[in-house]
Amino acid sequence: AFIEGKPTTVWAYNGSATPLLMEWVEGMTVEIELINQLPQETTLHWHGLPVPPEEDGGPHEAVPPQGRRTYRFVLPEGCAGTYWFHPHPHGTTHEQVFRGLAGAIIVRPKVASSDALAALPETHLFVTDLKLNADGSIAENDMNDAMNGREGQFLLVNGVYQPMVSIDQATRVRLWNATNARFLNMQLQDTAGQPVSLLQVGTDGGLLAQAQQAQTVLVSPAERVELVLSSKEAATLNLHALAYKQGKMGMVQPTPARQLLTVQLAANAIELPKRLREITPLGAAVRQQRVRLSETMSMAGGMHSMNFYINDKQFDMKRIDFNSKVGEVEEWVVDNTSDMDHPVHIHGGQFQLQRREWIDASRGAPTQYAVSWKDTVNLRSGERAVFKMIQQHKGVRMLHCHILEHEDAGMMANVSVV
Ligand code: C2O
Ligand code: CU
Ligand code: CU
Repeated sequence: AFIEGKPTTVWAYNGSATPLLMEWVEGMTVEIELINQLPQETTLHWHGLPVPPEEDGGPHEAVPPQGRRTYRFVLPEGCAGTYWFHPHPHGTTHEQVFRGLAGAIIVRPKVASSDALAALPETHLFVTDLKLNADGSIAENDMNDAMNGREGQFLLVNGVYQPMVSIDQATRVRLWNATNARFLNMQLQDTAGQPVSLLQVGTDGGLLAQAQQAQTVLVSPAERVELVLSSKEAATLNLHALAYKQGKMGMVQPTPARQLLTVQLAANAIELPKRLREITPLGAAVRQQRVRLSETMSMAGGMHSMNFYINDKQFDMKRIDFNSKVGEVEEWVVDNTSDMDHPVHIHGGQFQLQRREWIDASRGAPTQYAVSWKDTVNLRSGERAVFKMIQQHKGVRMLHCHILEHEDAGMMANVSVV
């Protein structure tokens, strides 16, 4: 129990309160049966994976209470990376995830030796966020949760509150942000609170071309990162999520700092290969898609409430908002004209982030990105992100903010791929 003497009842996959981890291999045919024993309709969505739309568990494919369905898809070569799965029913995704439904997926390359870090042991950190009432039950969302996205008092790693992790050799760490809405601005600190630099080796869709050092690594809701932890001397280090200001509305504090876990590191420095992976940049785009995120706030009857929009519209299951063509490189230009951060995610696979820049160019120069594969990118207020993507299958895909309260409040759109 997280609150002494008050057990918490969660919703779970296969009856397990510890998040599931599924390990798959490229080329494999995945077959999974969903038996829905929830009182609501649900789906299984394979976040970030290039599976056909009708197998991807979007809101159009809901399985009713007591219903069942089998998902079946083949994992294409080249998709090795760090993914996750979660429900995606219309309007209740936020609730199903905060009640406990989310799990981890790792896809490994078909040829194990093509993974530059295959020799390293791995540690998996699947981060979720639990908000409880004093009696141990899972709290309903309040008005602030609905506007800003829900944050709880217990940030869990693999279902455990502030675990201690021992690492006695250089280790590959995969970290998932499977929270509804919490920004994890990750920093490693020594026992004196001094930052120790992080070595990032991977993003959502697998390894980077080259490792990158950073003092902090922001992992916004739904993003994943891979890190390598190693040290010249034995050390005790704390992995923190620093305080983060995402422009919350109403009378609430910015996201406070939280300690995620303590790592006991043995002396174990290693040299990583200089190239981790070859990533071919996508070619010239044949089409541009323009996306604008916005919000309105009302104060009716003393109650703050917010509406969230994509291109001035709230989500409608039946309306097509964007038209894409299969197999073509498209450039997506996403502008955030609202007052808060929104991590934007598109279904269908991975994209290549080109740059982030201020919509108002006088605020500063663009940030260019080394080519990598991602499926979610955070946009600060006033920011623009530009990414390139190829849709591999025909059908309807979703584009949405991955603060699940915003998604369910209408910040989602249908992309028709023909
Ligand atoms: Cu992780 Cu449409 O979602
Ligand atoms: Cu997704
Ligand atoms: Cu949002």
